[in-house]
Amino acid sequence: MTGNLTFGIIKPDSVKAGTTGSIIQRIIDDGFEIRALKLIHMTLKEAQGFYAVHRERSFFPGLTEFMSSGPCVVITLEKTGAVRAWRNLMGATDPAKADQGTLRKEFGASLSENAVHGSDSDENAAIEISFFFSQIEIV
Ligand code: CMP
Repeated sequence: MTGNLTFGIIKPDSVKAGTTGSIIQRIIDDGFEIRALKLIHMTLKEAQGFYAVHRERSFFPGLTEFMSSGPCVVITLEKTGAVRAWRNLMGATDPAKADQGTLRKEFGASLSENAVHGSDSDENAAIEISFFFSQIEIV
């Protein structure tokens, strides 16, 4: 895994709102190449496993319930400096604090329902990509 890959989720709020296509277009327009993509519906246990790093936080039960409440799109993206580039396109975690032109500003509703997820480091990108994708699914 190189520093040119990152992992993202188009969260259940976006899929439900019908903005998946718009978000994918924004990703492509920003110069990312999609290396893997699929629609999944996480069980509560899978969401708890994915967000295990946050298990002691007060928002963990709400977060994992929301992330398993409906389908989401998991995606592996390639670009030079992918982790930072994807975080820049997403904007701040809280949509109310996100810059104009970012995905969370445009599509996020709240701190919990904030449209998209992105890895916060190369190390976590590698872990998160392999949580959802096998080697053969990454093109
Ligand atoms: P995400 O990038 O998916 O990583 C963890 C998620 O927890 C985060 O986006 C937010 O959607 C969610 N979350 C809910 N409440 C909080 C909070 N108080 N602080 C940080 N993240 C929160």
